[in-house]
Amino acid sequence: MDQDTIKAALKEAIYNRRSTRSYTAQPVPEALLEEIVDAGRHAPSASNRQLTHFYVITNAEKLAGLKAVMTNTLANAEEEAGMSPSLISLIQRAKQGEVDVTYGAPALIVTTNMKGSPNAPADCACVMQNMMLTASAIGLANCWINQFFSLGDRPPIREFFEGLGMSKEEDIFGSLAVGYSENPSTAPIPITGNPVTYIR
Ligand SMILES: Cc1cc2nc3c(=O)[nH]c(=O)nc-3n(C[C@H](O)[C@H](O)[C@H](O)COP(=O)(O)O)c2cc1C
Repeated sequence: MDQDTIKAALKEAIYNRRSTRSYTAQPVPEALLEEIVDAGRHAPSASNRQLTHFYVITNAEKLAGLKAVMTNTLANAEEEAGMSPSLISLIQRAKQGEVDVTYGAPALIVTTNMKGSPNAPADCACVMQNMMLTASAIGLANCWINQFFSLGDRPPIREFFEGLGMSKEEDIFGSLAVGYSENPSTAPIPITGNPVTYIR
């Protein structure tokens, strides 16, 4: 690819990427998932420690199991001061019935890092942005999913991921739902925050 094509593709991915919250059941080809994960693996990391571990879940039974564990955990959770409004809303909905925090996506990429690593959140953000932009650039809908991070210390969730191979030394950080959008909507959202101050 020439420089102008790469620049145009990157710009397109940055400005047209959107979070998708409704997926079809169409599976994502393994080669495309590998492309996304590889972009994540090439993200910078503090001191180049490369501590992110990627769990790529496409097994329908495991995804259904995770949905059940999440619903159960949320239904048994109490609302706490400092919880985000979206987490409180999920807890309230789970007490009424099943919730699917990954919106039916056929693929889920969960990232972990070493427990206690001070730069883990920053490493995770770099990995996630590379993966979101790559997924968008190759035509795949995606969405950052935060609940496995915010509830990752609850025993049923830890046990689930340890059952997939996560070690006791790892903690969950960002996760990415990936698939094909049920309602493609790509209208850009207005950017009214993120102020900029130039000191010249
Ligand atoms: C750190 C982080 C956590 C997020 N967690 C969730 C989440 O758990 N569920 C969700 O639907 N979207 C989540 N999002 C997506 C944001 O809600 C979304 O990026 C924002 O509303 C802007 O919309 P856009 O991505 O379509 O531009 C998260 C985004 C970030 C950066």
